[in-house]
Amino acid sequence: MKRLIPFLLMLAFTGIMLTGCNGNHGSTKKKPLKYEMNMKKNLFGTVDGKQVFEFTLTNKNGVEVKILNYGGLVTQLLVPDKQGNFDDVVLGYDSLQDYIKDTPYFGAIVGRYGNRIAKGQFTIDGQTYKLALNNGPNHLHGGIKGFDKIVWDAEDFIKPEAAGVILTHLSPDNEEGYPGNLKAKITYTLTNDNELKIDYEAETDKSTVINLTHHSYFNLKGQGNGNILGHHMQILADRFTPVDATLIPTGELKDVQSTLMDFRKPESIGSRIEQVEGGYDHNFVLNNTDGKMRLVAKVAEPKTGRKMEVLTDQPGIQFYSGNFLDGSNIGKGGKPYLKHFGFCLETQHFPDSPNQANFPSTLLKPGETYKTQTIYRFGVTE
Ligand code: BGC
Repeated sequence: MKRLIPFLLMLAFTGIMLTGCNGNHGSTKKKPLKYEMNMKKNLFGTVDGKQVFEFTLTNKNGVEVKILNYGGLVTQLLVPDKQGNFDDVVLGYDSLQDYIKDTPYFGAIVGRYGNRIAKGQFTIDGQTYKLALNNGPNHLHGGIKGFDKIVWDAEDFIKPEAAGVILTHLSPDNEEGYPGNLKAKITYTLTNDNELKIDYEAETDKSTVINLTHHSYFNLKGQGNGNILGHHMQILADRFTPVDATLIPTGELKDVQSTLMDFRKPESIGSRIEQVEGGYDHNFVLNNTDGKMRLVAKVAEPKTGRKMEVLTDQPGIQFYSGNFLDGSNIGKGGKPYLKHFGFCLETQHFPDSPNQANFPSTLLKPGETYKTQTIYRFGVTE
């Protein structure tokens, strides 16, 4: 008996060891991580007496996006690098309070009009509408309390191949000075192809102008991990819209040939930025505008191998290189965001279109539906 006990103990120990081996080290191949499309909803806080939820969408590859119904903010986006390591590639804050206090539109849905309207005014059918001047002499990104600062109604959905959040808002006539009761709907969808898809829709009961966009600041090295100057940028645009000192387009559609705006071939963001007064903050006139979806921009980060492609049906894209970041915004994990720590690629109609007759129209009339789509697609370089 005395000899049997150690023997039995040894058998039991061997059994545990074998089970452990089978479970964890049985195969020489790296065990594939198993995820499936998933959606979680948590209460995140309250604004204007309305509940703000954080929706966490995860796809089968482990790509994860967090979205708030406050401002339609994308607060986190985890994507893998070449080695399969995940990092959060968008700038933002940890708390709702920080977003409310001060944000340069981190991750936001921007509306009713993305970018600038000169002197904050436009005329429709002989009637002039006046908007807030919240950017020097001009109106920017929908005004004082634009679509980035409201609590949207939210509904989530999940299917085997995609999960998403549908945000709706009824913007009353004269909200921020814009005419018409505007029904706006934003659908965020995460797909198993590592795409973050944004569908925008709107209808009005009075002629108005509209130009919705998304304002994530991306950094493919991971948020807070230095600047984006080493990223390679490609924008499929033969022309851009030069601006005056207050960043209002002059009306010219200028050929990018022999200018600092030539990104038709991939070019590092930092290579010419010193020569661009203030940094990049320009609208590019995208090629092949016929209302259909097409690839319009590609960004790659050489060290991590992460890449992002942008597809849209829109005529323009604002490439903004985070010029106004100055370290005063302390982001997620206590990381200060310095100049050029993020870049935005905002698909859009051209800035100040309501006042520029030669730009594609941003007029939305009763009975019409504004409907556009943009996709941010993530991958790694070969
Ligand atoms: C604009 C910039 C502005 C930034 C943050 C961009 O879309 O083009 O001029 O500073 O948003 O507000």
